Amino acid sequence: MIELSPDYYQPRLGDTHSPQVSIRLMRIDDIEHVSRLERRCYTLPWSSSAYVTEVGNPSAYYTVAVLADGTLAGYAGMWVNMDEAHLTTIAVDPIHRGLKIGERLLLDLLEEGMRRGADYASLEVREHNQVARNLYFKYGFDDVAVRKNYYSDNGENALIMWANDIRSPAYLNLLDDFRARLAPSE
Ligand SMILES: CC(C)(COP(=O)(O)OP(=O)(O)OC[C@H]1O[C@@H](n2cnc3c(N)ncnc32)[C@H](O)[C@@H]1OP(=O)(O)O)[C@@H](O)C(=O)NCCC(=O)NCCS
Repeated sequence: MIELSPDYYQPRLGDTHSPQVSIRLMRIDDIEHVSRLERRCYTLPWSSSAYVTEVGNPSAYYTVAVLADGTLAGYAGMWVNMDEAHLTTIAVDPIHRGLKIGERLLLDLLEEGMRRGADYASLEVREHNQVARNLYFKYGFDDVAVRKNYYSDNGENALIMWANDIRSPAYLNLLDDFRARLAPSE
């Protein structure tokens, strides 16, 4: 188990309401934009053809977050196999970060994972990606293993994180609470 720094998770106060955002399935005609965002968000970006494959994969679920003016501000995806929802990506345009869009995308993945029968969720994250780790930790993911030197660009370790029992009453309560906080203010 890795050592956690003291500032591992400190909820940020205020700014709890997201702008009006809708989450919908990713379509083929989104992929050009998604690929542009992918190159801005990741140092080892997936190719656009990988997204074409994912959009057509029945075990996969890929979504985009769209602002009221139609701007595609983020995207996310996962594979659901048997009782596992494996989150493959979640990214928000740098100019729209800190507005709970990543959180909305994650919540939607978890809800769809549950609908498809997953009992637990898993993912890999760079060890030094503290922002993403905070997000996952907030949603009940724990570090369960380390893959040493996993990322080919800089040799960074990957942490494997799991959220167990995502259909348990306690976890559903947690999601209800977060969903309510994300509801747009009147
Ligand atoms: C990770 C990412 C998707 C977060 O998206 P976001 O829309 O900016 O995040 P949100 O506004 O929804 O924040 C949700 C939570 O994330 C964490 N977080 C977000 N920004 C943070 C920051 N600047 N510092 C610390 N934690 C932060 C917090 O836990 C936050 O909850 P809180 O506000 O209650 O503290 C975004 O930073 C991103 O696209 N990163 C690049 C791609 C990436 O690394 N994806 C993860 C791959 S495993």
